[in-house]
Amino acid sequence: MKIRLNKFLSSAGVSSRRKAEQLIQEGRVEINGKTVIELGIIIDDERDVVSVDGEKKKVEKKVYYLLNKPKGFVTTTKDEKGRDTVMLLVPNSQNLFPVGRLDVNTTGALLLTNDGDLANQLLHPSYGKKRYYTAKLSRPLSQDHADRLKRGVLLEGRRSKFVDVDIVSNDGFHVKVSTLEGRNHFVKKMFESIGIFVNELHRDSFAGLNVKDMPFGSYRPLSDIEINKLRENK
Ligand code: URA
Repeated sequence: MKIRLNKFLSSAGVSSRRKAEQLIQEGRVEINGKTVIELGIIIDDERDVVSVDGEKKKVEKKVYYLLNKPKGFVTTTKDEKGRDTVMLLVPNSQNLFPVGRLDVNTTGALLLTNDGDLANQLLHPSYGKKRYYTAKLSRPLSQDHADRLKRGVLLEGRRSKFVDVDIVSNDGFHVKVSTLEGRNHFVKKMFESIGIFVNELHRDSFAGLNVKDMPFGSYRPLSDIEINKLRENK
């Protein structure tokens, strides 16, 4: 396949595309044994041999898994405190990483991939990928409060809101919310802004991928149709 050199380098996990251009200009990249410093070169990734600092690079096959994250696992590839990470739950020979964060005690839909470009897109609110959560609250939510969270509250100096808020139990303790936001602790902070704590949080779905029929701790590869859908804007 013909591919731009900087795209090849980012797909091979060397760096971002922009950083790859820097590496090229610094004379650290060779094609078939010859240093190249021009930008915009197209290579054939099946024939040309590309190396960076003398080390051969290959494009990794992209893989995508949906995990139903159980409680007690952190969503990083390594944890400096030695806690269990979600990487223990999926096969990991392909430099996978989790797309975004779920808190250690949050359960539910978590995507893992080695596709950095797609991960960045999915995390950006402009891509319109919704997250649906079910939360158990420390006190019942009134309809007034639900409306306020939909209109928006000020969080860290930014107007922030849920797209939907549905009270799903008669006692008002259980709610379902959706959001385009990927900020860390977003759901908890939204509720805390009105004096309510989230005692339990489950992400039902992320970007249309839901874990309804998956046991906690199980994962499955995405289908080609699902992967193509993820790439669509909205
Ligand atoms: N918002 C939170 O507060 N926690 C999560 O784990 C995910 C979203």
